[in-house]
Amino acid sequence: MIRSIVVGCGSYLPERILTNADLAKIVDTTDEWIVERSGIKQRHIAADGELTSDLALKAAQAALKNAGLTADDVDLIVLATATPDETFPATACRVQNGLGMTHGFAFDVQAVCSGFIYALATADNFIKAGQAKTALVIGAETFSRILDWTDRATCVLFADGAGALVLQAQDGNGSNDDRGILTTHLHSDGRHHDLLYVDGGPSSTQTTGKLRMLGKEVFRHAVVNLADVVKETLSAVNMTADQIDWLVPHQANKRIIDGTARKLGLGTEKVVLTVDHHGNTSAASVPLALAEATADGRIRPGQVVLLEAMGGGFTWGSALVRW
Ligand code: UT7
Repeated sequence: MIRSIVVGCGSYLPERILTNADLAKIVDTTDEWIVERSGIKQRHIAADGELTSDLALKAAQAALKNAGLTADDVDLIVLATATPDETFPATACRVQNGLGMTHGFAFDVQAVCSGFIYALATADNFIKAGQAKTALVIGAETFSRILDWTDRATCVLFADGAGALVLQAQDGNGSNDDRGILTTHLHSDGRHHDLLYVDGGPSSTQTTGKLRMLGKEVFRHAVVNLADVVKETLSAVNMTADQIDWLVPHQANKRIIDGTARKLGLGTEKVVLTVDHHGNTSAASVPLALAEATADGRIRPGQVVLLEAMGGGFTWGSALVRW
């Protein structure tokens, strides 16, 4: 059986840091409210003229370096973003060009905050089908560009950044002892469009639009959907929560993350938390957290890592990986 092994990990964060105190100067909010309700203390914001593809390219280069590979080795790029440089072409093609690649194929995936899980599952399936051998899977966002900076209920939550993984095909025996992606699970439910969306687009308004969210409602669904998908994931491979070494969740809200970990019976020492210093970077949040926890030696080869995310659509999903 072909497995998709994680052979490299990288990330990039824009230089500019926006603290809660900075936000309190723009909208009617406080550091106490933001920390208590979301766990966020600061976030990174892209510079003028710094595009999603710029962040993505830097994360991709870092991941390739970490893997000891070059762009020549890559035959697939899947980039998850809800904030592409342009309506078309895909931001992935700009990254491909930035890497100097003229071979292989590159495309974007749009599943908002679940985008990285969707991109990972997509790349995994191309690899398992034998249509790609080495894939760059990127999550990259400039959410600062679609925020309504007068809406305190959303502008304090979201942020910019990029993370990337390199996957490579390797033979496995089909057991849970194999390294690589063991299982992925994707879901969507379009009935909840109005709870989290952007009020613009090429076909509807011919404008980019701004993010709109009914946070409390999204929160309620996130807690249920994430608990369900985590259960489904473990059951698909006959594993139990105590076999998980690390939970690397989408970084939307510390309270949601704590709730998911509690339901799994996982202590906080097994949860990678970056929402405090990254904010919610949508599709970039899971690979940013992975890059941090692999670089500092927490996540090590052979360990079992559970990834999960939930976002606009609604979309949600998970991936279980033996690192
Ligand atoms: O990544 C995609 C998925 N997204 C998520 O998972 C986000 C899910 N939702 C959340 O994380 C939380 O619902 C929020 C952090 C967005 C909000 O926390 P909450 O505990 O659900 O607060 P709330 O929306 O019920 O607001 C409570 C109060 C309201 O005032 P009243 O109506 O009680 O008087 C808000 O107007 O807090 C007020 N409020 C604020 N106050 C100070 C809303 N935003 C702010 C703010 N600063 N920035």
